[in-house]
Amino acid sequence: MKTHKKVRIYTGFERFWHWTQAVLIIFLGFTGFEIHGSYSFLGFRDAVRYHNDATWLLMVLIAFAIFWHFTTGEWKQYVPTTKNISAQLEYYVFGIFRNAPHPTKKTAHSKLNPLQKLAYFGLKVFLLPATLLSGLLYMFYRYRGGGLPGFLSVGALGPVALVHTACAFALAAFLIGHLYLMTTGSAVTSNLKAMLTGWEELEDEE
Ligand code: HEM
Repeated sequence: MKTHKKVRIYTGFERFWHWTQAVLIIFLGFTGFEIHGSYSFLGFRDAVRYHNDATWLLMVLIAFAIFWHFTTGEWKQYVPTTKNISAQLEYYVFGIFRNAPHPTKKTAHSKLNPLQKLAYFGLKVFLLPATLLSGLLYMFYRYRGGGLPGFLSVGALGPVALVHTACAFALAAFLIGHLYLMTTGSAVTSNLKAMLTGWEELEDEE
């Protein structure tokens, strides 16, 4: 028989980390695209200052998040798998529009479907580190005149700025996809509510 029960999906730290990271990345994008010249709102000088300040906050947050992932073992949730991946893809392309059931059962111990695992793994292991690294190279080049120690030295700012800007566009694309997929849980707002309150009503098969 299928019943529903309230399950604690996200801990307090996880929610704090998720929302703080969201605010900082949006703010970094907002100030970053002003630095890029896409619009003028804060003024170039302040945009640079705030972009740099938010960077330090994000790095502190990431340091705590890395510690949390490894001490709690939650990192295992993000290990990519091919199991059920085509069923999940088919669900997003077709099933969702036909009211088909979700192909992956969500539990507190396995809260991500295979596509989420892949997307978040890519974000955490490739995209965010690439953004951070290109941003730091950009920063050191800017403020230390390119005089970086040995292996870190970059010949010119152009390629670094290009990589950093490409990362910013990729993060913006991720955010748009993330916001759409957020609405595809068991109800339109159930994923959002879970990330706000920590609790979600999940199927309990007995
Ligand atoms: C996390 C670490 C980050 C660091 C260390 C960093 C650092 C920097 C630095 C130093 C600059 C140049 C500022 C100047 O002209 O002095 C810059 C520009 C920029 N940043 Fe970041 N940033 C980071 C994250 C982000 C994120 C998350 C985004 C987007 C979501 C972003 C988007 C941009 C953009 C679009 C530019 C303008 C690039 C250009 O046109 O040359 N940054 N960043």
